[in-house]
Amino acid sequence: MSVDLVLREGTIIQDGSEVIRSVAIKANKIAGVFQLGSEPEAKETIDCRGLYILPGLIDIHVHLRDLEQSSKEDYESGTMAAAAGGVTTVVDMPNSVPPVLTRQVLEDKIERALSKRFVNVGFYAGIPKKAEDFDVRMLPDILGLKVYPHAPLAKGVKYNRNRIEDCFRLADEGNVPLLFHPDLPAKEEPSSLEEFLQIHSCEAEAKALNLFLDSKVKYESRLHVCHVSCAGTARAILERRAEATLTAEVTPHHMFLASGDFSHEDGTAKVLPPLRSPYDGQKLAGSLCLMCAIDCIASDHAPHTSVEKQAPFLEASSGFPGLETTLPVVLTEVFEGRMSWVDYLRVCCSAPASILGIPNKGVLAKGYDADIVLVRREKWKIRGRDFHSKAKITPFEGRDVLARPVSTIVGGEIVFRDSGFVIGPGLTGRVPVRRP
Ligand code: DOR
Ligand code: ZN
Ligand code: ZN
Repeated sequence: MSVDLVLREGTIIQDGSEVIRSVAIKANKIAGVFQLGSEPEAKETIDCRGLYILPGLIDIHVHLRDLEQSSKEDYESGTMAAAAGGVTTVVDMPNSVPPVLTRQVLEDKIERALSKRFVNVGFYAGIPKKAEDFDVRMLPDILGLKVYPHAPLAKGVKYNRNRIEDCFRLADEGNVPLLFHPDLPAKEEPSSLEEFLQIHSCEAEAKALNLFLDSKVKYESRLHVCHVSCAGTARAILERRAEATLTAEVTPHHMFLASGDFSHEDGTAKVLPPLRSPYDGQKLAGSLCLMCAIDCIASDHAPHTSVEKQAPFLEASSGFPGLETTLPVVLTEVFEGRMSWVDYLRVCCSAPASILGIPNKGVLAKGYDADIVLVRREKWKIRGRDFHSKAKITPFEGRDVLARPVSTIVGGEIVFRDSGFVIGPGLTGRVPVRRP
């Protein structure tokens, strides 16, 4: 057998242990994992001594903006951030301007992402005011439906039981998960940080979760809870886990940062759901790795301009970039012994693939898509100014981390090598990512 590329003599994780192997790639796929000396002939070889060879991250929750918000991010800068962060597949949220409520908007996003992509890009759609107006022609090109009860994409919608049941029915008929942001609508605008935190409280998160779980009984649809931020919500999910149709994600910032770490003078750490207490963070990390209440990690990469983030807290935009911090921050947990390799590979790679229903991704083994990141164990500091994302303000600024993604391979093509881009946009990666 002759192959296109051999990643030679790197460290891979096999049965939870580090072993030295070579990984062969042929025609977009992993052709096999080989002992040293038994690698097949290859057109090209990369010396991976001193590097980890890992499956690329699958980030099921990102906002790549573009369309009318390309000052915040576009598909080129966003997927460059992904590749540089070791993320080989992203799924783009529908709360763009305009939102994904029609086939036309989805097609515009796909067309732009196709020409600007550096990684695989999948999409979610929202649900119009009348659920029966949902354009089912979007279904083959989306990986899920996403709803925001606190800030509906379709104006004038209220998330009462009828509406939520309609959403579940659509998800069921389309055989896609229903994803939701667990929060409730505010009665009025907050006038202080305390009011902001009270509106977007853990109680509101729990109430929203219960509302969705109670409305779920009628249909066999899957529910995915986005960015769980409170210990109580994780506990409530665990109690309902008997249902295989319930999944959940957590972000690195909700696990590893706490509200009290920041002054809140400006919007640097402003995000929805808000950062919580160190206790919540610890419980969330525990729910991910010990209790299995939460299935996976997602960044909720939510870029805004510096001006929008540097405004006084109440006026500032919520969200910050995450594509270039997830891998370094989470692998640091592995290198410092707080997370096992098996958990890392599950929560960052294989579980996101199974939530999306894309069985060919998320594992470093023969027959899987060749979406791979090479990582060096190295101490460095996160600096927003070095991001490829247009958004440079991060609450992880200055944090010491122990892992650096140095090269990224997408669909068997080397995209990012020795910390630089070696091909142009639009040449590799699937857009849209589809279920088989
Ligand atoms: O902080 C947030 N920013 N939370 C969300 O749910 C949306 C996101 C955004 O799109 O900016
Ligand atoms: Zn959200
Ligand atoms: Zn989000």
